[in-house]
Amino acid sequence: MSIPLRLLIVEDSSDDAELLERELRRSGYDLAATRVRDEEHFLIALQNRPEIVLMDYCLPGFDALKGLSILKQRSPETPCIVVSGTVNDETAMQCIHQGAADYLLKDRLARLSTAVDRVIREKEAGKEKRKTELALQESEEQFLRLAENAEDIIFRYRLGKDQKFLYLNPSVKKITGYTSEEFYSRPQLWSERILSTGKDPGRENGTDGTGSSLSRSGSKIRFLRKDGKTVWLEQRVVQVGIGSPEKQTVEGIIRDITEREQRDRELNAVVSVASAMRSAPTRSEIYPVILQQLKDLLKAEGTALAMKDLLGDDMVVELATGVWADRKGKHVGQDFPASAGINQPVRNAKDWMNGLADVVCVPMVSQGQTIGALWVGCNNEINEEELRILTAVADIAANALRRAALHEQTQRRLQHITALRAIDMAITSSLDLRVTLNFFLDQVTIRLGIHAASVLLLDPRTQTLQFAAGRGFHSPAVHQTKVRLGEGVAGRAALERRLVSVPDLAKSDEAFRRAPLLTEEGFVSYFAAPLVSKGQVKGVLEIFNRAPLEPDNEWLEFLDTLAVQAAIAIDNASLFEGLQKSNLDLAMAYDATIEGWSRALDLRDRETEGHTIRVTEMTLRLARTMGVGEDELVQIRRGALLHDIGKMGIPDNILLKPGPLSDEEWETMRRHPEYAYELLSLVNYLRPALLIPYCHHEKWDGSGYPRGLREEAIPLSARIFAVVDVWDALRSERPYRKAWPEVKVRDYLRGETGKHFDPQVLNMFLSMLEQEETFSPAAGRE
Ligand code: C2E
Ligand code: SIN
Ligand code: SIN
Ligand code: FE
Ligand code: FE
Repeated sequence: MSIPLRLLIVEDSSDDAELLERELRRSGYDLAATRVRDEEHFLIALQNRPEIVLMDYCLPGFDALKGLSILKQRSPETPCIVVSGTVNDETAMQCIHQGAADYLLKDRLARLSTAVDRVIREKEAGKEKRKTELALQESEEQFLRLAENAEDIIFRYRLGKDQKFLYLNPSVKKITGYTSEEFYSRPQLWSERILSTGKDPGRENGTDGTGSSLSRSGSKIRFLRKDGKTVWLEQRVVQVGIGSPEKQTVEGIIRDITEREQRDRELNAVVSVASAMRSAPTRSEIYPVILQQLKDLLKAEGTALAMKDLLGDDMVVELATGVWADRKGKHVGQDFPASAGINQPVRNAKDWMNGLADVVCVPMVSQGQTIGALWVGCNNEINEEELRILTAVADIAANALRRAALHEQTQRRLQHITALRAIDMAITSSLDLRVTLNFFLDQVTIRLGIHAASVLLLDPRTQTLQFAAGRGFHSPAVHQTKVRLGEGVAGRAALERRLVSVPDLAKSDEAFRRAPLLTEEGFVSYFAAPLVSKGQVKGVLEIFNRAPLEPDNEWLEFLDTLAVQAAIAIDNASLFEGLQKSNLDLAMAYDATIEGWSRALDLRDRETEGHTIRVTEMTLRLARTMGVGEDELVQIRRGALLHDIGKMGIPDNILLKPGPLSDEEWETMRRHPEYAYELLSLVNYLRPALLIPYCHHEKWDGSGYPRGLREEAIPLSARIFAVVDVWDALRSERPYRKAWPEVKVRDYLRGETGKHFDPQVLNMFLSMLEQEETFSPAAGRE
């Protein structure tokens, strides 16, 4: 067993040096020894980093004390044993003092190997210790660096009788407003500022009262900052001192979770409001849900909700509770934010105080438009946090109400088209004018929601309007109606060919002119719509109501559509002898309805604005390029507009699902072309337009649905439409995925040639896109 050792001997006597080496070899060292005898060579030899130096005490021109001081400077870790020929306590002491590891006598060299062993062991141990010390020092520095820069509060706290902070990092100032020094000098300060602890972020003041709140991990604290604001804190604590309670200390981290807490609370409020609204499909069902939620969330004494009317220049309270209960149905004055066009919450509007401590009004804004407003009144001050919750609720409410309005509108349009279809059938199946008109008036009274209606026909020879049919009258007085063109309201409507309305009959000439009719019937409001067909006045449709009527645009449009129908019916009847009937006006009336309807569909599907119109235009262009004739284009246009009408039958939770569909949901979704078929085949006029809605998901290779048609068996219009639909669908954002970039879309389309798409149609489409880009580089993107 030999231990390698790099040794440096400083000795003028070769014999002595020989002796030293031999002694060490004998003890089992495998020496690599260097001998020097003067300072110059000593310095050079040190560069070889000897593990140990043996140094003669006395050398000519050099001595151990000098050697030791050089060693201390150049290589302080290298131990040195001084070897001397004489005994002298004082020199020995001097050498040890200068850093010698040991001192030996030349005649006692038996001790040498023991001394070297020990010195080497000590040197190793010293190295370890220094490493540990260094590491410790480094980690302390690191801790301090971390603590001093940390966002969170980091602290050390002494428990027991003399409770106080032993350390607090600078973040405490930012989070609490107090400096570390303030907490050090006032041990009670921390507990004094605690408003409440625990999980419940309630409003009540509950003080834990003891500093020992600092010993609990994971607790939430509501803390009153120096500036009077409150923050939410959460602490994590570890116990460090063990032993008697007096000596116990804890260390921990305190985090400012105010933002998170507020977000959580808002989120909870939002989730509960949204889920409550989901079960309320119509506006009138949503109003009470919103107000109940506000009352619960803010402990309000009064709540109110007002909606703007369609024209947007008036606002009416739809529902109110508590101190404002009697405001329901009242108009809201101009002094209030939303009607003044301000989209910000407003505090303490004058008319609304009712002795309350604080009142806030927030507008409900959906898609940039103010649709109404919410009021909340409390007996205490409404704080910032509550204001934010209120704003969040107003946002959801606005969107829910808008969606409900659209839904109601879609339902109404569906009723409209059903009515049109029934009328259409009446026109074509019966040319008996009286039957037709009676049926027509049934529809008018039901669909317009009015009490009575009549049709007056123009006798071209006498230029008078005479009663032809009526619905909803209590007395037969109306049968006597006979007015000259230009006379009275009906006469004026016919002469001027425009809708004339009388909101309050009692205040008009009409009351006198038609007294026998009006006094008995109790009518309040009245409309006269001219019946015009092919540019000729055929008569007047009269609308009577026993209560005030405040029709919206849609109602007025529908009235107009009905008037066209009636005119056509009258025209048909008078032309029935061999004359060709024209459906032109009727077709126009239908088309207006279809467009409105497809817009409503887009909105429900949350399609990008104008998606349907865009797809329709693109389809028409492609069809034209492919040589489709004008007659067919008319049908293609209608078919494209209504292509996804079958999605009316798909529930929201599937249609708007923000992710992939389950097998079962997909089963339902795949039925939308059949729904379209069922719906549209009922309407004669729309039957030729069915091909696209029914066949737009068939695929060239036969793998599509609903019928799995192949190649040419798929109607050309549907093959054309399919390409455009997928192109536009992929470029648009969907609830279940993001929009694709144009390049990816085209690559995808190309890859589907002969599989999903008719190769010829696809080629045409792609070159059409390219051509359009050549002429207008922005055309492909928008
Ligand atoms: P849509 O969103 O108007 O898509 C029309 C057609 O474009 C789709 O018909 C499909 O051929 C193509 N398309 C749309 N998005 C993608 C896509 O991300 N990847 C690929 N490869 N093709 C796409 P399809 O597949 O018969 O779907 C019909 C309708 O079913 C869709 O109309 C959409 O309303 C609904 N739908 C389809 N997949 C999902 C889904 O994962 N989640 C939800 N919520 N709805 C879906
Ligand atoms: C209708 O329901 O037919 C018209 C009434 C309206 O649009 O509000
Ligand atoms: C047309 O769409 O060109 C007329 C067919 C119809 O009115 O049903
Ligand atoms: Fe579809
Ligand atoms: Fe579509």
